[in-house]
Amino acid sequence: AIDIRKFRAGSGLIALDEGFANTGGCQSSITFINGEEGILRYRGYAIEELCQKSSFLEVAWLLIYGELPSKDQRDKFVSDIVRHSMVDEDIRKFYEAFPRTAHPMALLSSVICSLSTYYQDELDINDEDAVYMTIVRLISKITTLAAYAYKKSIGQPFVYPDNSLDYASNFMHMLFSVPCESYEVQPAIAKALDQLFILHADHEQNCSATTVRVVGSSEANLFACIAAGICALWGPLHGGANQKVIEMLMNIQRDGGDSQKYLAKAKDKSDPFRLMGFGHRVYKNFDPRAKIIKASCDEILNNIGVNDPLLKIAKELEEAALSDEYFASRKLYPNVDFYSGIIYRAIGFPTNMFTVLFAIGRLPGWIAQWREMLKNPGRKIARPRQIYTGPNLREFVDAENRT
Ligand code: ACO
Repeated sequence: AIDIRKFRAGSGLIALDEGFANTGGCQSSITFINGEEGILRYRGYAIEELCQKSSFLEVAWLLIYGELPSKDQRDKFVSDIVRHSMVDEDIRKFYEAFPRTAHPMALLSSVICSLSTYYQDELDINDEDAVYMTIVRLISKITTLAAYAYKKSIGQPFVYPDNSLDYASNFMHMLFSVPCESYEVQPAIAKALDQLFILHADHEQNCSATTVRVVGSSEANLFACIAAGICALWGPLHGGANQKVIEMLMNIQRDGGDSQKYLAKAKDKSDPFRLMGFGHRVYKNFDPRAKIIKASCDEILNNIGVNDPLLKIAKELEEAALSDEYFASRKLYPNVDFYSGIIYRAIGFPTNMFTVLFAIGRLPGWIAQWREMLKNPGRKIARPRQIYTGPNLREFVDAENRT
């Protein structure tokens, strides 16, 4: 509920809306969500159809530029992204300075921000060529930088991109190949990863997209805006939930598979524990992304030949939660993070890379939100108000007279 109060220190009214749950921060033509009916569309196209018929880079173009690309536009975009996958050799020194135990999201946000020291950091939003080059660099280099973060964490040498591979395959090659042995990417797995990227590509005014818009509204450079978005995504209530889901499922497994115990914990208001991967600010019926991921989970695990006991636990937990009054009355359903980690695990991604995968997928959405915001002639710097609850004017007391 919005609490509208008189602003104490001056004239005017302030709407107090914790978490901006009922506040529209912008007008947008990028993504449509109907939370009651579980509908998600990018630029008017149903997510289900895009997943089946399109590719991540095509969807990236669609989100950023508003229309599906022509064949020529798409081919050029893909080839430009392929060609820009190398990063300056000096960037490797950043990784040397970080401890091996660093979370890959910390590394990713830092190195993405540092790209502003290598490339044009002040963009005129109407200079389409310059903006295009920055977009290409970001979408291309994020996979290389993410793979480097992983290689750093396991102490293996960095693997250079192989430009003969498609986007998802090239990323897996950089992650899983070693200089003495090239990783053979299975096309079905590359397709599954590409589809997961599509599912994560945008989700209107979520925490990280809002962060990108807020930072961008001060006209900070795009690299800084994206780094800020990555940091916002990292939190366990947002993109970080995908890592937390698997950790929770592993705990349940270690505890003998007792899902009911964890449901009880999640319902206990004196316990801060929440069922990770459950609930959503907007979806109050089902999350269409979770539906697609759940449906492909069995197929992908079969394809790879993996029998993951965590999938069984996840399904049991979902079933138990859906028939529980607490979850039903609050309209809490599995979200995108609930099943995605099981696929990532089966492919071989380590748990602490899950949120990085989310960031790669979400990047085009952040760019689209940033571009739309800057192209709005009526835009304003983001600057919410507050309702001050601190003391009135007080007289300063010298240190020796304080009690
Ligand atoms: N487990 C247990 N209870 C929950 C959960 C959960 N996962 N989610 C919400 N609730 C309860 C709350 O305790 C609250 O109960 P109350 O009315 O008795 O106080 C009620 O449901 C409403 O919850 P809010 O926190 O007000 O809902 P909000 O819209 O602010 O939060 C959020 C949404 C953050 C996603 C929340 O459901 C949550 O924390 N989920 C777990 C983390 C998670 O999966 N995050 C990923 C979201 S998807 C994404 O960002 C990609």
